[in-house]
Amino acid sequence: MTADILPTHTAALFAAAVQRAAALLRAGELVALPTETVYGLAANALDPRAVAKIFQVKGRPAHNPLIVHIAGLPLAATCVREWPPLADTLARAFWPGPLTLILPRSSVIPDLVTAGGPTVGLRWPAHPFIQAVLRECGFPLAAPSANLSNRISPTNADHVREQLGGAISLIVDGGQSQVGIESTVLDISTDPPRILRPGMIHAAALGAVIGRALAAAPDDPAAPTGALRSPGQLKKHYSPRARMVLLHWRDDADLNRQLAALALPPGRCHLLAHAHLPAPEAFARVCLIPHDAEAYARALYAELHQCDALGAEVIIVELPPDSPAWSGITDRLRRAAA
Ligand code: TXA
Ligand code: MG
Repeated sequence: MTADILPTHTAALFAAAVQRAAALLRAGELVALPTETVYGLAANALDPRAVAKIFQVKGRPAHNPLIVHIAGLPLAATCVREWPPLADTLARAFWPGPLTLILPRSSVIPDLVTAGGPTVGLRWPAHPFIQAVLRECGFPLAAPSANLSNRISPTNADHVREQLGGAISLIVDGGQSQVGIESTVLDISTDPPRILRPGMIHAAALGAVIGRALAAAPDDPAAPTGALRSPGQLKKHYSPRARMVLLHWRDDADLNRQLAALALPPGRCHLLAHAHLPAPEAFARVCLIPHDAEAYARALYAELHQCDALGAEVIIVELPPDSPAWSGITDRLRRAAA
């Protein structure tokens, strides 16, 4: 199989792609769709046979549950046991957008979607294309990131084609993903709510809307031992093929000293910097990623995909600032380097 890639940049192309995607999804097939975070590999969330194909194509372990995508609160309410006021508050503040809410599931959601667990992750994505497909289909869409398990998430249609082009029949090209890293996953089935996966909607923003502090994230030293973590949040995840090393350096001399101590010849290193750009001659490649968190997140995965495409052996990444706006980015970098 070789995937067709459908463009969506005119109204007619957009409408035709919606029809084609919806027809495949109704028939129980998979379609790779753009979302504002990363591209997703979608299936009818209410059809266990369709959902099983997601796990098969990605090589995803069955214990890792899928996020269910909806457009509109009435459809969200059918997926959960009850729709609490807290969900309403968060949905009004952040949906459509890069926030996934974990709630007790209703009986319409198949076991396969939740990995047999009692909760379901729900997200109303902001990208107009997946919204149009959701409206056309009328059923919710289960969609993990459209990459092979443990590889970097795709932020454009080409990234999807490289990893899954031979395994699915349709990829819809909705342009570059505007957020660039996966949604924040917030568990509101427990009290207080807890972030299971940091993202661009950070703890301070969520806390301000909820009106109180969140529980410490499982990776936080303040969290109780044995705190429940998102099943998909393995320490090693979201990895490029190259070895990745996170460093902070003051200047070129400081960087060179650190690389020498790690026995890393600069000539073998691709380097991603955002603040202290070293003289590029000695390195295999030096890229400057933007200095503000939103633009950095948008660019990051494309840079890592590029390192993979160029066969990079080692990627040196300048550590981002230690502030809430960067917490999702730092999480992904630490996992990729683990
Ligand atoms: O931005 C995103 O969330 C993208 C786009 C396509 O929407 N999707 C995405 O899906 O990143 P995936 O499958 O790559 O990551 C889903 C994460 C995993 O860490 C999974 O364990 C967690 O969400 N998750 C899903 N359902 C859960 C549940 N019921 N309880 C706890 N964690 C859950
Ligand atoms: Mg993923």
